[in-house]
Amino acid sequence: MFLKGFIFCCLLAISIADDETNNKLFPEDFMFGAATASYQVEGAWDEDGKGENIWDRYIHSNPELIANNDSGDVACDSYHKYKEDVAILKEVGVDFYRFSLSWSRILPTGYVNKVNLPGVTYYKNLIKELKNNGIEPLITIFHWDLPQPLQDMGGWPSDFIVETFAEYARLCFELFGDDVKYWVTFNEPKQICLGGYGQGYNAPGISLTGLADYVCAHHVLQAHAKAWHIYDQEFRATQQGQVSITIDTRWFEPASDSEEDAVAAETALQFNYGWYANPVYNSDYPEIMKTRIAERSLAEGFNHSRLPAFTDEEIAYISGTFDYMAVNMYSSILAVATDEAPIAEPSYNYDMGIDGYQPDDWESASAPWFKITPWGIRKLLNWLKETYNNPTIIITENGMPDNSSVIDDVTRVRFFRDYLSNVRSAMEDGVNVIGYTAWSIMDNFEWGLGYTQKYGLYHVDFDSINRTRTPKTSAAYYKKVTETHCLVDTCEE
Ligand code: BGC
Repeated sequence: MFLKGFIFCCLLAISIADDETNNKLFPEDFMFGAATASYQVEGAWDEDGKGENIWDRYIHSNPELIANNDSGDVACDSYHKYKEDVAILKEVGVDFYRFSLSWSRILPTGYVNKVNLPGVTYYKNLIKELKNNGIEPLITIFHWDLPQPLQDMGGWPSDFIVETFAEYARLCFELFGDDVKYWVTFNEPKQICLGGYGQGYNAPGISLTGLADYVCAHHVLQAHAKAWHIYDQEFRATQQGQVSITIDTRWFEPASDSEEDAVAAETALQFNYGWYANPVYNSDYPEIMKTRIAERSLAEGFNHSRLPAFTDEEIAYISGTFDYMAVNMYSSILAVATDEAPIAEPSYNYDMGIDGYQPDDWESASAPWFKITPWGIRKLLNWLKETYNNPTIIITENGMPDNSSVIDDVTRVRFFRDYLSNVRSAMEDGVNVIGYTAWSIMDNFEWGLGYTQKYGLYHVDFDSINRTRTPKTSAAYYKKVTETHCLVDTCEE
């Protein structure tokens, strides 16, 4: 009752009229969702038999790496409060909830020989609660929280991980697949590999750029493909779901009209998105990556390219392992051609070889990398359509951070309205978008930035033992959108 009253009162206060906003209805079967990820919301880090994962270890051993020495030990306490989570998802009116499975909650050592039943029960209960409330689960199998014992074996840069992940994925399909129509194998492999093993800003914090990041990516792609084939051969006929991989990128816009900057922007897109997408949606790594990394590797004194090569058989095995395209997009950047970096230490950035910046007159959000660029999502969607043969697309994350506890988050309302407007316009351009996911249903643990960055439609009180969830104005706006499929007061058919 309180919730309804709140949402109604705030909706009246939201100014949603804007001449620039697309006023076409989203199709009736268009799916609106909201997302979270296990480490960011669940808490209960060592409860009921859950094993340690690399984020537990990374943060407990180096608390100073996280803003305010925070951790996800309790986070939003979703392990205990999943019914409240489902209640707020229902209040917002989403068609689906994208959440991830904590590998170590299901398999404490990472291996399938020991299944942790309470962990399985938690996800079964969550799925049941969602279904009972008419919300479809969209499940991410891996959102960065690798079991620590598997990291002790070398983690993603070691090739045992391909088979180990495939076995874990098979178990997930077996356990939950009867109730799941949409799967994502990996969330943002670039953040796993570049962040975890290349530039070291994510767990496990290894900095071996230009080397371990490429090997990690190679295994993630093989593991993804293996999971897709397992689903295809063993589960598709009975479960009839769809499997993809979520790849993230910012939109890279040429900084000028020059041919060089256009090449720089395309190069950046290929190094950021194509690195993972080309092997899956076309075939093999992008030519520009193969050429540049091979040339620089040889000049550095290596005998072969630092970018591992797929065999023809592997290329064929990975190509086409998607049932829809899943993309995360938040912001944009201007790409500038630059002089070739000196031959020195291996580096992904040098391999890419472009400069980028975000002009001061682009509107800022609170995270350092974040400028609000709604036009970028339309350009990116059109680029995806052209580059990957017009796939069916679900936007699996989009949203914005602020760093205060503001409930009347009018900037976020405008953010969602303007980005969704550009999504709708991209659909008019002919891009086949079938779903959109707001990040996030509630404020949560934002990795290295701890709780200083808030993306939620719902505010979470991290000072209260109850982790009280309170709707923001953006929740009311998103509810209006999910109910009416319209971004403004009244829409055209
Ligand atoms: C990740 C989320 C993260 C969000 C905002 C994405 O990179 O998938 O886990 O919280 O962006 O930074």
